[in-house]
Amino acid sequence: MNTPTLLQKLRLTPALEARLAASYRVHRLTDEADPAAFLAAHGGEFDGLVTAASSGVDAALLAALPNLKVISSFGVGLDQIDLEATRARGIPVGYTPDVLNDCVADAAFALMLAAARGVAAADRYVRRGDWSGPPSAARFPLGRKVSGARLGILGLGRIGRTVARRAAGFDMEVRYHNRRPVPDVPWTHEPSLVELARWCDFLVVIAAGGAETRHLVDAQVLDALGPQGFIVNVARGSVIDEAALVRALVDKRIAGAGLDVFEHEPQVPAELMALDNVVMLPHVASGTVETRQAMGDRVADNLDAFFRDGRVISQA
Ligand code: NAP
Ligand code: 8YV
Repeated sequence: MNTPTLLQKLRLTPALEARLAASYRVHRLTDEADPAAFLAAHGGEFDGLVTAASSGVDAALLAALPNLKVISSFGVGLDQIDLEATRARGIPVGYTPDVLNDCVADAAFALMLAAARGVAAADRYVRRGDWSGPPSAARFPLGRKVSGARLGILGLGRIGRTVARRAAGFDMEVRYHNRRPVPDVPWTHEPSLVELARWCDFLVVIAAGGAETRHLVDAQVLDALGPQGFIVNVARGSVIDEAALVRALVDKRIAGAGLDVFEHEPQVPAELMALDNVVMLPHVASGTVETRQAMGDRVADNLDAFFRDGRVISQA
């Protein structure tokens, strides 16, 4: 078989780019001054497309690749991939589930602890030189206890279950909301998201993104979480009504937030910048050396398996 030709939609990790270049003819769309003109002239030459969860594939790009046979995406989120269009064309989509569960769950706890204990604000306090005198003289505001608190999880999928397991180490009681109860887990399913929010002290959002979950967390859910409740989002910005979240934080109708994702990345609402009870990350929940290596390996393994056996390893 001829060496397959891949279109790389965005820059990837150096290790993954090197591995792909060793096995395939790779063309980077980011190298093109006029990507549309390039696709019009050469779109028919590509067998595979490499993309990422944050970048996705839309119907227009698919249409520009008439001989495409496989897609391999770096990440687990599928909200930016037009799965209806790929299925209509019979193009398998490989992605990277499970290998990032640990790091995303770790990041959820990092945000939970950071928001509740004011870690980022306390760090700024020390750096500003505001800490003077003995520790007992520190006037930094008291935080909120995480251990033993009630944890609500919106989306008890692969990552949500990993978050729930972590919670045992913090002696937290866990309940969750999904459309369907998950069999054989020790945590209680709460059919109403509003009731879950009312019950819990910390609400971790880790449901799939996309049209079906858009603004699932709205003003009503935030009011149910209440002035003592914290929210953590490591899913997609779209799952929370961001305008409602900003209002709830500014008006102190919830206690705080830990946010890895935003509705219009990389834009962050200006109102959040001044709030010490909000901790923000630039969408890096899976961003460790080990996990990004594992994700890259799966991207390449999916392609290798497809071109060898006709099937990707992890199909969306
Ligand atoms: P998963 O195993 O497919 O879990 C998704 C969960 O969302 C399921 O439990 C599903 O349960 C629930 N869900 C879907 N639609 C729902 C709805 N309308 N109402 C309530 N629950 C709903 O996916 P995963 O691997 O855990 O990943 C979850 C998401 O995390 C990804 O889709 C991605 O967007 C995000 N993510 C973010 C980062 C980051 O860097 N911040 C990294 C990795 C993943 P039901 O189907 O029963 O409703
Ligand atoms: C990555 C993610 O940051 O897997 C996902 O869905 O959001 C993250 O792991 C993303 O894939 C990089 O594009």
